[in-house]
Amino acid sequence: MKTIFSGIQPSGTITLGNYIGAMKQFVELQNEYNCYFCIVDQHAITVPQDRLELRKNIRSLAALYLAVGIDPEKSTLFIQSEVPAHAQAGWMMQCVSYIGELERMTQFKDKSEGKDAVSAGLLTYPPLMAADILLYSTDLVPVGEDQKQHLELTRDLAERFNKKYNDIFTIPDVRIAKVGARVMSLQDPLKKMSKSDPNKKSFISLLDDPKQIEKKIKSAVTDSEGIVKYDKENKPGVSNLLSIYSILSGKSVANIEKDYEGKGYGDFKAGLAEVVINTIKPIQDKYYELMESQELDDVLDHGADKARKVANKMVGKMENAMGLGRKRK
Ligand code: TYM
Repeated sequence: MKTIFSGIQPSGTITLGNYIGAMKQFVELQNEYNCYFCIVDQHAITVPQDRLELRKNIRSLAALYLAVGIDPEKSTLFIQSEVPAHAQAGWMMQCVSYIGELERMTQFKDKSEGKDAVSAGLLTYPPLMAADILLYSTDLVPVGEDQKQHLELTRDLAERFNKKYNDIFTIPDVRIAKVGARVMSLQDPLKKMSKSDPNKKSFISLLDDPKQIEKKIKSAVTDSEGIVKYDKENKPGVSNLLSIYSILSGKSVANIEKDYEGKGYGDFKAGLAEVVINTIKPIQDKYYELMESQELDDVLDHGADKARKVANKMVGKMENAMGLGRKRK
């Protein structure tokens, strides 16, 4: 069985973009792969976090992973900071990374732009991500399109390490869904939907209540044409809503266009709100149950134990390859 690794940051709320671009795929893939799904809290502290909020968000993300359908019998779910091998391997990967290539990462450029003080961690974020992936001899990494560049760097770093030290890493492939890899903002359909967007109307959180969802979809930016038709170039707003509708309902875009022929955006948006609420409601019901449960802690304890065993072995191989410490068996 091939291995999958992917991670989500517990920074702020989890959006419909995270669900469609990442989590929904995870649930489908867990039947065919040996999966590791991680709550990457160490990545979250590359930007300032309130400690109590962060703790809450970590638990909340863990509960959401299970609520969307990650099955702990099939997949290993764990918190990054509870497996120290990630920080150890992250440091080693930093030492094979070049500052120039890290400064070229578009996510670093976006997140550091205009800031007076930027943490060194924001720059060295990608080698930690590479470590996450490489520790588990990962074959495939399912992510949204925004992570593609980080994955290319991960492959470069793995190849560089293998050549320079010892051939120990599997070179991972990226897996980006054909549709839904880039869910766009509801307020500016040329920007991706992001949990860090200060305009809360631009994203739907998996924890929004039905009223909020209806309101946000109602105020989503479209155009003045009034025709429900997929045309990414000229109708980016409507096209984004159509993609969301199609992915969540399982209906083809062509069929949805037909359903709304001759009807305006009001009807279309009401239909979409219903589809989104129907997807999110059962997730929320499970989520609230899990948040208070001992089951959640048991899953995370078990996941960390399992991940630690695999990751520690790879750290040993990395240290041997680089000549750190004394030879390990
Ligand atoms: P993060 O936390 O920003 O996002 C988690 C996942 O959600 C996807 N995603 C989207 N997909 C479609 N449309 C959107 N609008 C959208 N917004 C987010 C992301 O592509 C991602 O798959 N660096 C990673 C976390 C990470 C990781 C890893 C991922 C750390 N280590 C190892 C994979 C493997 C991140 O910040 O994702």
